Amino acid sequence: TKVVLAYSGGVDTSVCIPYLKQEWGVAEVITLAADLGQGDELEPIKQKALQSGASESLVINAQESFVKDYAFAAIQANALYENRYPLSTALARPLIAKLLVEAAEKYGADAVAHGCTGKGNDQVRFDVSIAALNPNLKVLAPAREWGMSREETIAYGERFGIPAPVKKSSPYSIDRNLLGRSIEAGPLEDPRTEPLEEIYLMTKAIADTPDTPEYIEISFEQGLPTKLNGEAIAPVELIAQLNQIAGNHGVGRIDMVENRLVGIKSREIYETPALLVLIQAHRDLESLTLTADVTHYKRGIEETYSQMIYNGLWYSPLKGALDAFVQKTQERVSGTVRLKFFKGNATIVGRWSDNSLYTPDLATYGADDQFDHKAAEGFIYVWGLPTRIWSKQVRG
Ligand code: ARG
Ligand code: SIN
Repeated sequence: TKVVLAYSGGVDTSVCIPYLKQEWGVAEVITLAADLGQGDELEPIKQKALQSGASESLVINAQESFVKDYAFAAIQANALYENRYPLSTALARPLIAKLLVEAAEKYGADAVAHGCTGKGNDQVRFDVSIAALNPNLKVLAPAREWGMSREETIAYGERFGIPAPVKKSSPYSIDRNLLGRSIEAGPLEDPRTEPLEEIYLMTKAIADTPDTPEYIEISFEQGLPTKLNGEAIAPVELIAQLNQIAGNHGVGRIDMVENRLVGIKSREIYETPALLVLIQAHRDLESLTLTADVTHYKRGIEETYSQMIYNGLWYSPLKGALDAFVQKTQERVSGTVRLKFFKGNATIVGRWSDNSLYTPDLATYGADDQFDHKAAEGFIYVWGLPTRIWSKQVRG
């Protein structure tokens, strides 16, 4: 058998290589490392896979697709799991699954594999996404079954020439990509305790942020961010720059206890500056360009959409149907939002659009008010009629 393994260069995925071969009789392991902007050097990862026994070591830069096909769709849906987490880790999984399936098909593999544990969301996202894209591929998850502790895993690896991590391993479990960092475990497992400042890399502490505010303008075209401060900017570059700007002002930290799909509550810290700012700006532009009923209806869709991303259902019929709804709503979501960054806050201070539904003649409290105040009286009579009838019946 031939297997394509999702590979990060870490201990777990490295040990997966000899484990698959020795324990599960896999003849050939091809590793696939996806560059999603995690900032690791890729050549050493490629070499490490080969040293660990891989027959082939693939490295694929998928940053552009990650932003355009996954992050931007989530921004259009204002996707925030439990109203807070912009799904920076969750969005990467269906893309990695797609790369695994494509490689398996290209190299004629019988199965794909990943190094997720049995307690998390990520295993679900991989397994279900792979099944959706190619139901004939087997999915192997050695780390879900091997039952080895951290020390045992390292010792097993050393028997097959995989060096133990050089620096004393951090107590945290960290997932990182262009969209952000997810940090859990170690001291964070006590939800009462404030995280140590050392865990943050993308966002400054308020004490270290600039003492003067910074203003930026983000422009959207049909719900997609296209310009920063009036200049066209490529998707990956936009995320990188916004991470920088917002993070510099201490914007983008989340500390939450979330509900995993597998039933566990976990305390997670996120740093996702660009994604949070883009969702905030996008939602604001929608408030200017969408009708009230579409805006309100879309809230419910957004909630479901976020849950589907979190729960591993990116490639599913309902998600596809919701995409069609979201795309339709975005046709007129074009315009510009002005934001102010200062001391941990991103505040929207202005917005404008050629498609604006905001009508100054109707909104004004000034003399040029065009709203027909008399019409309100009749409207309120009819609107309140059921309540009045009910009240008469109940109170007499
Ligand atoms: N809880 C987040 C999610 O389900 C992040 C999971 C990965 N986090 C980690 N520290 N390994 O998307
Ligand atoms: C894992 O177990 O792979 C990390 C945590 C998660 O998937 O939620």
